This record gives sequence, C-alpha cells and structure tokens, in this order.
Amino acid sequence: MNLVSELDLPEFDYTKPDFSADTYHVQLARIRQQHWLARSPLAYIVLEHDSGEFFLRSKATAFPGRQIAEFFGVIDGPLAEHIDTNILNLTGERHRRLRALVGHAFTPRAADRWRPVMRGFIQRLWTRVEAYGACDFIPAIARPYPSLTIATVLGAPHQDAGRLHEWSSWVQRQFDIRALELNLPEIERAVKEIQAYVSGLLEARRQEPRDDLITVLLRAQAGGDRLSAEECTSLVVNLLAGGIDTTAGQLAHAIRLFAAHPAQWDLLAERPVLASSAVEEVLRFEPVTPFTARICLADIDHRGVRFPAGTIIAICAERANREVNGGERFDITAPRDTRLLTFGAGAHYCLGVNLARAELEEALSFLAPRTPSLALDGPPQLGGVEGIYGIDKLRIIWS
Ligand code: HEM
Repeated sequence: MNLVSELDLPEFDYTKPDFSADTYHVQLARIRQQHWLARSPLAYIVLEHDSGEFFLRSKATAFPGRQIAEFFGVIDGPLAEHIDTNILNLTGERHRRLRALVGHAFTPRAADRWRPVMRGFIQRLWTRVEAYGACDFIPAIARPYPSLTIATVLGAPHQDAGRLHEWSSWVQRQFDIRALELNLPEIERAVKEIQAYVSGLLEARRQEPRDDLITVLLRAQAGGDRLSAEECTSLVVNLLAGGIDTTAGQLAHAIRLFAAHPAQWDLLAERPVLASSAVEEVLRFEPVTPFTARICLADIDHRGVRFPAGTIIAICAERANREVNGGERFDITAPRDTRLLTFGAGAHYCLGVNLARAELEEALSFLAPRTPSLALDGPPQLGGVEGIYGIDKLRIIWS
C-alpha cells in the first residue's frame, strides 16, 4: 500500500500568480491526464468521479469545516460557533436526526409549490431591464432573484432580500480558503448579524405561525422529537447562507454559457421543455461548487493508496462531471448518464437541490424566449474558484 504523501503527484496550486478562473479548466484537464490525484497547498485533490463519490459517501470521512478554520486561527468566536452547529459539519446520529426532521420540507413537490413565486420574481426583475436591451445581469437578476425567492420560501420580508444576499455571500466565504485568510472580520460580522436576524424571525413566527418554511421547521417533528431553538436558528442561517450565493452564481454562469452558445439558447427559447436538461448541463459543465472537501476520520485505503487519518481531501466536481463522452462540450441536448457531483453525494447531499433546480429552470425558461441574440457586452468578471465560484460582473445585451 502506498502512502499518499509518498506518491509522485502533479501539483494544483491556486495560490500561484498565473492561476485564474479563466484557465482553471485547462489546468485541471492537464493534471487529470497525469493522475487521478493531485497535490495542493492544503489538500489532496481527487480528480476522478467514482473516487470522488467514494470519499463523499464514506462513513470514515467528515466535512473538515472545523479543521480548515483552525488552520486559519479560527478557534473561538462567532464563526467557530457557527461552524460547530452547521449541519454540514455534523456527523453520524446528530446529522441523521436533523435530516430526518427536515427532509420532508425539501422534496421536489415542496419545491414545486414555490414555482409561481419564482416566476413572479423573475418577471418583476425582468420588467425593470427589458426596455434597455442590456444590463449587468448580476445586480439586475442573478443576485436579487434567489434572495427574494428564499426570503419568501422561509417567510422573511422581501425588503430584506438585499441584506440576505450580502450576508449569504460573506458567510459562504467560510468555504473559501483565500477569504478565511484575508476577510475574517467581515465573515464574523456577517455570521453575528445573520444569527441575530434569524433569531428575531423565529421569535416572530413562534408568536404568529404562517404558511412558510420557518413555521414548518418550528413544527417539524419525527417520533416525538423536535428541533431545538438552537438547531432551528442554525438551520435557517444555513439555508439562507447556502441557498442564495450558490443559485445566484449558477444562474450567472448559465447566462454566460448560453451567451457563448447562441444556437442552444435559441433552441431553449423554442422548446421550453428542454429547461430541465439545460439546467443539468449548466450544473455539470460549470459547477459553482467545483470542489468540496472531506477529512479522513480513520486511515482509508483506496485504489492502492493509504490516506492516513487527518488527511484533507478536495473532491473535484468540475473534473468528475466532465468524465463523460464529449464532456468538455457544453450541449443541452446530449444524453448524459453521469451522477453530477455539483450537489455533493451521500449523507450531506445538498438539502436545497430541488429548490435550486426549480429556480434555475424557471429563470432560464422565462429568459430564453425574451432575450434573442443574447451576447456578452464585454468580458465577465469571474470570481475565485476556491469557494463558491460566482461571477462579479456580467454585462449582457439582447435584441
Ligand atoms: C446551484 C445551487 C446549489 C449548489 C451548487 C449547492 C451545492 C451544495 C453542495 C456541494 C453541498 C454538499 C457539500 C458537501 O457535501 O461537502 C450542499 C449542501 C447543502 N446545501 Fe446546497 N447548493 C445549492 C443550493 C442550495 C439551496 C438553494 C439551499 C437551501 C435552500 C442549499 C442548502 C444546503 C444545505 C443546508 C446543505 C447541507 C446539507 C447537509 O449537510 O446535510 N443549497 N450544497
């Protein structure tokens, strides 16, 4: 059995000056040709689909939120406390119990119920830019659309959507190792503010239940068990944090990809039934979560390699998703039978997957017929790929 530290592995170093989101697909593809594993400053990167899934599903691994934060000196304080209660960092029975309590609120049917709300928001945002034939898609639609939607689903006032987005993007930077190094005070402030906001919201809903997800969570029970007040707060914070920036980034990438593939945008405009395969192809080709991570809780042997307990592994959804016939080609009509790793796999598989898919489908099927000749109006400003890979600026035009 070879120890992973003794292997001669290619390097993937995102801290190098020549590293950028523009070139990372090419770099990863080159490295993948050399090996299924790569070395990076903090973790070994798994570049192959089945091995990625193996580590995500293994009971001998956990999400290394705590360990990564400690590496950056986050030992106590609001972020450390948030990390300890984050569903993503829970393991075993504690995690299973939480998913059993809330799972029913996130089924495809539960998500479909909100489609009319989603359509209403996309329509409203669209009417503000329609007449101009051009906009920066990020502030105009990509950012407000998921925050308005998740605010409504949870039962938060619409006028708070802007603040929710702002908090979400800071809190999500706990997964971005560059931001942990550079922006810790902003992340901690956002964690404190969103927690106080959510506690107030929960208190209001305890007093006056409504037809929203917060009320459902407050009432959630299984076998006589209920969520504690702390669990409820933490979960709602995670839904807000995990449910805005991700979908916003994914929608922005969708528009960028379709602007580069006009024939496919036209096809979607003509055949709205393609919306769900269009969304799958966007999620496959340009995941906003190119990497997720695990720590080995015990020695793990896989493909003749020993990963000692404590080893941190980054699972590369970007490479895994492209490991199909014609995988480097964006094509919404190609039959794909791969299991995407964009939403993870196993016990922590994204809780909001059905909401995210529904939001993306509603937005793309609405926009495609209304934006013929969609094109980029200047180069987009891409975010970093280390955490949630979003887009900061995306000027588009249409006829
Ligand atoms: C395109 C949009 C989205 C993407 C790409 C995405 C991606 C992911 C990934 C990769 C994970 C698993 C991480 C891991 O196992 O290491 C995850 C977990 C999670 N996501 Fe999402 N997500 C999206 C949207 C949402 C939405 C809309 C919500 C909430 C409404 C949400 C809530 C969560 C929660 C709560 C978890 C933790 C689940 C657990 O630990 O059991 N996500 N997501």
